[in-house]
Amino acid sequence: MQIPSGNPSDPISIMYPGHNSSKMCNPDTTHRIYFEKSHEMKQLEDESVDLVVTSPPYPMISMWDDLFTSMSPEIGLQLNTENGWIAFDMMHTELDKTWGELYRVMRNGGLVCINVGDATRKVGNEFALYSSHSRITELMLQHGFHALTGILWRKPTNSPNKFMGSGMLPAGAYITLEHEHILVFRKGGKRVFATEKERENRRKSSYFWEERNRWFSDIWQDLKGASQILDPEGPRKRSAAFPIELPFRLINMFSVKGDTVLDPFLGTGTTSVAALMSQRCSIGYEMDEKLSGIIHERITNSGSISNAYLMDRVLKHREFVSNQQELGKQFKYHNDHLGVPVKERSEQYIELNLVKKVSPIEPGRHYTTIYEPVKPLPGRR
Ligand SMILES: C[S@@+](CC[C@H](N)C(=O)[O-])C[C@H]1O[C@@H](n2cnc3c(N)ncnc32)[C@H](O)[C@@H]1O
Repeated sequence: MQIPSGNPSDPISIMYPGHNSSKMCNPDTTHRIYFEKSHEMKQLEDESVDLVVTSPPYPMISMWDDLFTSMSPEIGLQLNTENGWIAFDMMHTELDKTWGELYRVMRNGGLVCINVGDATRKVGNEFALYSSHSRITELMLQHGFHALTGILWRKPTNSPNKFMGSGMLPAGAYITLEHEHILVFRKGGKRVFATEKERENRRKSSYFWEERNRWFSDIWQDLKGASQILDPEGPRKRSAAFPIELPFRLINMFSVKGDTVLDPFLGTGTTSVAALMSQRCSIGYEMDEKLSGIIHERITNSGSISNAYLMDRVLKHREFVSNQQELGKQFKYHNDHLGVPVKERSEQYIELNLVKKVSPIEPGRHYTTIYEPVKPLPGRR
């Protein structure tokens, strides 16, 4: 990995039409975490967030029963008396407090990506599918968001499918549930990049052609789940984390450098790390303060991970270029910043910056990051 000496990249300064400069993420990036419920995000001004990437606790997945019951004891009572559908409704009522608040804090044109899994569960004598993705879609539409095409995330697995039901005897077996959803919503119409400065920053935030082809597919099958194992002595036995690549892709698909990314169900801080890696600012809300140590560790260790990851992106692109060139394909353009041939005009402007330093301002709660440019890879034009 080549990390040049030299100055950190110029401060990012992005203006939004109709928004004042106090809402800019400037300079470099800042990362804030609030240990409270996201039902009311009182630290956030109206229309101050560009993108939400999140994964809530999944209703009717038993690992979250206690958490939902802590929010509303009636949920536990309904589960104990085998009223699965009432419990399911009440769990969504809790999550919905956050969805409503998101509408207030999102800018017009901003996107919300929600990763959620449906649940299959036997309550009393009834085995049923509890479809959280359709319930959340319904609720988000009621708040005024528009639904866009989402992604079906089917995790590759090494273990054989766990079939349920009557084995090979017809009519009584169940289809295995091995996918999750990434729902995508927008507040208002398409985002406008009104000034030349904004458009330039947007160009610098582009991604490679071959990444576009994978990322904008409606099925992701190439993304493994994250390891769920946490320190057995720690606050939680399973992390319920998504893999870093999931928020990283969504952040790079749906925001530009310097934007503010919010995760209202932050967990172990994966979205904050992905935002930091992508030169975006982040805000996270997490009700479980015991996770602050894990979040601190992840954010402070993110510099070297981030730099290795970005350089790997460039190396993978190089590999793609050589494979294509071997097949006789031509590359019309060149990205001088990264020192690589590219296929499309917009890829010429991609600018990747390495993390120079992550500084805790208040450990577990507030960090700043400065960046420096990637040195172009040596080799032919
Ligand atoms: C599925 S986990 C998120 C995991 C996260 N994506 C990660 O990679 O670590 C959901 C998290 O939301 C938190 N949570 C649940 N309800 C909340 C609320 N109303 N406000 C803030 N955090 C909440 C839980 O404590 C849990 O850590």
